[in-house]
Amino acid sequence: MTADAVNHHADHPGFAGVTGLLVGLIMSLAGGAVARLAADLTSVSKADRVVDVGCGPGTAVREAGRRGARVVGVDPAPVMLRLARALTPNRGAITWVEGTAEDLPARDASATVVWSLATVHHWRDVTAGLSEIKRVLCPGGRFLTIERQAQPGATGLASHGWTPQQAESFAAQCLTAGFADARVENHTPGRRALVIVKAVRP
Ligand SMILES: C[S@@+](CC[C@H](N)C(=O)[O-])C[C@H]1O[C@@H](n2cnc3c(N)ncnc32)[C@H](O)[C@@H]1O
Repeated sequence: MTADAVNHHADHPGFAGVTGLLVGLIMSLAGGAVARLAADLTSVSKADRVVDVGCGPGTAVREAGRRGARVVGVDPAPVMLRLARALTPNRGAITWVEGTAEDLPARDASATVVWSLATVHHWRDVTAGLSEIKRVLCPGGRFLTIERQAQPGATGLASHGWTPQQAESFAAQCLTAGFADARVENHTPGRRALVIVKAVRP
């Protein structure tokens, strides 16, 4: 995998066991601003059925739930799903399911919104992930990804994100996969610069 690949951390081992639990707790403390931004940018409301691909500790799932949507949180890491359940005493219309972007446990055209936050850079197969998200979204459905903006050549934790070029590359892959209106945006809701790709399922 080259440093230019949008899924350049596909082999990251950090989401299991005690390390995974600690990483999940830190993400749950730090993820509120990104979760609110995702819900704002997709205008989530009680009319929506949301799938969060790579939900981790579930911060954005709970945000969508608070806005009245029915939400499915999907993650391949059992420790993340256990933490997400523990942090969600009032489940309401929230479901947690083990799965991956490449093999989504959701029916065809069952979602109005799919998002994947700080997660696409971990997918094993971007083409398969985009194909699955297109299958699961209904016509007109909104797709959103958010990544931390990374500098070219960054290493370690600072490399967990996308350079502007990687975001552009992902937007191009969305168009190739059959999405429409794929575009890159930049937002800084807190201290961190974020890079965002939005697209629509025709
Ligand atoms: C950095 S965490 C982000 C979690 C959450 N979206 C957030 O913003 O708090 C990345 C998550 O992606 C999940 N993940 C890794 N590979 C994945 C894949 N192929 N499909 C879906 N999720 C994946 C990990 O288990 C982990 O929970």
